[in-house]
Amino acid sequence: EIEANLRPKWLEEYIGQDKVKQKLKIFIQAAKERKEPLDHVLLYGPPGLGKTTLANIIANEMGVNVRITSGPAIERPGDLASILTNLGEDDVLFIDEIHRLNRSVEEILYPAMEDFALDIIIGKGPSARSIRLDLSRFTLIGATTRAGLLTSPLRDRFGVMLNLELYDKYSLQEIVKRSSKILNIPIDNKGAMEIAKRSRGTPRIANRLLKRVRDYAQVMEDGIITWDVAKKGLMMLEVDELGLDQVDRKILLTMIESFNGGPVGLDTLSAATGEERTTIEDVYEPYLLQIGFINRTPRGRVVSRKAYEHFKIPFKEEEEG
Ligand code: ADE
Repeated sequence: EIEANLRPKWLEEYIGQDKVKQKLKIFIQAAKERKEPLDHVLLYGPPGLGKTTLANIIANEMGVNVRITSGPAIERPGDLASILTNLGEDDVLFIDEIHRLNRSVEEILYPAMEDFALDIIIGKGPSARSIRLDLSRFTLIGATTRAGLLTSPLRDRFGVMLNLELYDKYSLQEIVKRSSKILNIPIDNKGAMEIAKRSRGTPRIANRLLKRVRDYAQVMEDGIITWDVAKKGLMMLEVDELGLDQVDRKILLTMIESFNGGPVGLDTLSAATGEERTTIEDVYEPYLLQIGFINRTPRGRVVSRKAYEHFKIPFKEEEEG
């Protein structure tokens, strides 16, 4: 599978996220020297930044197997109990969207994380008893968009918390060049930078744009992604100079046209655009905040002057009195 090839397998090959890599390198080496599993890790940050990739890298660097699942996939306590009892010694269990575990499942995790134990309730009512089974030592890696989405008992049981941030354009350019090499796509530095600049800080988007610009270059040009070809391909894809897509534009233009630039609350904005509140908050807002197109205020979100200028709409100064 192509996606799998693009995924780095070692920390050394993983581009960007320098603070995260620096910490992980130390924690991994320390755990290995002590012949212990790595402490439980919480990865949080916007989607598409490589949380699953990092979980695989951690398992690989530790020399253990990884079992991958997600919060919504684990429906009942028994499902999690079965996963936990089948882990090998020091294995990694990766739970994506860990904030979506239901409460009864989450409660199984507490003794598992803390004591590598499984508490099983036998019987019902007054005669119910609980017996404790030992589990192998393991590392739980949880991923979520915001650490604040977790209940505090769950959050408190992670010994390592790592915040993934949107990538800068130079890191994304490196990622595009690395992916091009793996996929045999001819591209120059300026072509790679143009894709990088329009990827909203997100490697998953950069890799997707690279593949679509390659299609454009192959059919409409001579197959080589130069700056000129990248710009034309991205124009066809309706990705603008800043990487804004139709949903970004809808959010900003709704705020400008229906709410006079704000302040507007997230739920109101969700109703007006038809996009889910969590999608706006976790997928669209981080990049719009980063490029300074919207600001958060106590009364809601507001569109900045910069965004008005991008859309060539006259900016109305706040009226006094
Ligand atoms: N592909 C996706 N994310 C990556 C990263 N951070 N480094 C290298 N390749 C990637």
